Amino acid sequence: MTILVLGNNDNKNNLESKHTKKTSPLTGAFIFRDTDIAWANRLQHDAVENSRLGIPVLLGYDVIHGYRTLFPIPLAQSCAWDADLVYRLSRVAAKESYLTGVRWTFSPMIDVARDPRWGRVAESYGEDPYANSVYCVSAVRGYQGQKLSDRYSIASCLKHFGGYAYSQGGRDYHPTDISDLSLWETVFPPYKAGVEAGAVTVMSAFNDLNGVPATANRFLLQETLRERWGFEGFVVADWCAVEQLINQRFAADTLDAGVKALTAGVDMDMYDDIYNRYMGRALAEGLISQADLDQAVRRILRVKFELGLFENPYTEEQVPEKIYFEKESVALAHRAAEESMVLLKNEKGILPLSASVKKILLVGPMATDRRNMMGTWIARATPDRVETIYEGLRQEFGGQAEIMLVEGAGIRENTPTFVEEALRAAQTADVVVVAMGEEYGWSGENGSVASIDLPASQVEVVRALSQVGKPLVVAFASGRPIGLSEIEPRADAIVCMWQPGYYGGSALAGILSGRVNPSGKLSITFPLVTGQIPVFYNYRQNARVSWKNNGKYADCSERPLYEFGHGLSYSTFVYSELKASRREFSAGDRIELSVKVRNTSERGGKEAVLWYVDDPVASVSQPVRKLKHFEKRWIPAGGEAVFVFEIDPQRDLSFVDRTGQSHLEPGEFIIRVADQSISLRMVE
Ligand code: BGC
Repeated sequence: MTILVLGNNDNKNNLESKHTKKTSPLTGAFIFRDTDIAWANRLQHDAVENSRLGIPVLLGYDVIHGYRTLFPIPLAQSCAWDADLVYRLSRVAAKESYLTGVRWTFSPMIDVARDPRWGRVAESYGEDPYANSVYCVSAVRGYQGQKLSDRYSIASCLKHFGGYAYSQGGRDYHPTDISDLSLWETVFPPYKAGVEAGAVTVMSAFNDLNGVPATANRFLLQETLRERWGFEGFVVADWCAVEQLINQRFAADTLDAGVKALTAGVDMDMYDDIYNRYMGRALAEGLISQADLDQAVRRILRVKFELGLFENPYTEEQVPEKIYFEKESVALAHRAAEESMVLLKNEKGILPLSASVKKILLVGPMATDRRNMMGTWIARATPDRVETIYEGLRQEFGGQAEIMLVEGAGIRENTPTFVEEALRAAQTADVVVVAMGEEYGWSGENGSVASIDLPASQVEVVRALSQVGKPLVVAFASGRPIGLSEIEPRADAIVCMWQPGYYGGSALAGILSGRVNPSGKLSITFPLVTGQIPVFYNYRQNARVSWKNNGKYADCSERPLYEFGHGLSYSTFVYSELKASRREFSAGDRIELSVKVRNTSERGGKEAVLWYVDDPVASVSQPVRKLKHFEKRWIPAGGEAVFVFEIDPQRDLSFVDRTGQSHLEPGEFIIRVADQSISLRMVE
């Protein structure tokens, strides 16, 4: 069965035309980019009433961070460190999609992303396998609800299996060379978690993995996904990925490509229509068996049954507009924007702005931007709903401070800059806010960059304004960690907004005024310069770690600019009394760890507590630390909270080898949380 594309702005699509063509009986699904529900229903009627077996089609779509109500990009969401929030956002997205006939989203993307040159870091939950696993489970549960056949449940799709994020040099679609150990340790865990959470579909990836493209890779799709993890749903290829097996020099022609993909375990192809066109011939020529075909069809049918499509393939056509953008959905979108922004720097407590600030100069290409604040994959969200930073600031500071607006620089290199005008305006301002960032297309699919720095013309504005001597705040919107080495020393405060969706303007304004106390922490490392990549927190130790200058760059620090987990608050949190219910344990025991976090400031705030395990000696050397648990809670001013991490040794202290076998070895384990650590010992 094939997935074809339907909908507006798809000018490549000659396969179906809105008014004339009928649903082919071999069409399993459509990517439904339209909003015309009547049309979706006509298609279903055609499939159900006119095709030989009356099988309904499945309408899928890339609903990645909201459908009509737009949320921050997934990378941003992960910086909120709130698994329940991701669950709730996914529920809203599912409901809004369902109402338009979409019953399948190509989400979550759980490719552990460690190379910010690769644009799809925007769609991931960052660089850590555990974080990706936790958020994956939240998203799958959010989309699929209690039961797939329930109203407002849609099928999720784990993508892109596997190793796509390792594309060479961050260049999209490029091959990947990944050790078996990295596959089991880093790439696979979120997929396994997603399968265990009940995800019913998986998308195979574009990349060639160690010489065998993922779309024709039996080790991935058969031996690992199905035989080892017991996945019973169906696998869909990525866009034209079956045909691309020819480019990848793995298949001789389209027939061969189809045969290789199907027999490796891809049940549905996407857009290239190869199964539709060639699998009949492949069967006749004995290149595939009837059982191969039946198996793929059975897996797809099972998901359609589970979705209740056979009982009710149609969608209500009269949907009141107010059912979208419900009050709670909008509140969630605001909360997500507020909690996912990361305050990277705040020298001399310049933020929140003091009441004596009467004139704010807002400069830069992002100040009045709408589309670029939305990021990649915006489904049916529209730029007119985006609140700009300028609007947000005016609303926030209305009456209290004047907002002066100067464009400063265009978003792209070589666009006119207005530095002189900005400098003049800065003379009279109490504080300067530079709103800069990336165009939305610079990240996302096919959004690779060779340098993560922003265009020099944008940086020039910061450089010039920093000479004026006024407090300087930089806020940037991006789909990846950007190079801040020129900006960081010049700015007094830096706010990473990511691409915040509809309500970034008011979220940023709230952070500047202090109405919002920032609580985001990075789920991905910010390199100091592009040349440091790969750089991530859970690296393995170098052989000469204690030797002065050994293994270091001669021309730059080996430390990243901002580490995984970094993020400032207006509150001050002091960690103390890290305790363990027992210091010595054996494999079957449970150990309860607790740490006290005191808010010593006069401001209530949320704190995300990240727990790490450090295993100093193991038969497979372990990364310097591994995230194993996180929790975020509100702590009132002057108050305290006790955070608990219950260790199940098998789950939390074991490691995998290059065959995927898990091991739990006796010896020392150090548990780290903020500046606290405690040593535990496992005995035989
Ligand atoms: C992307 C997928 C996406 C698919 C359908 C592909 O190009 O890689 O992530 O789900 O298109 O739009």
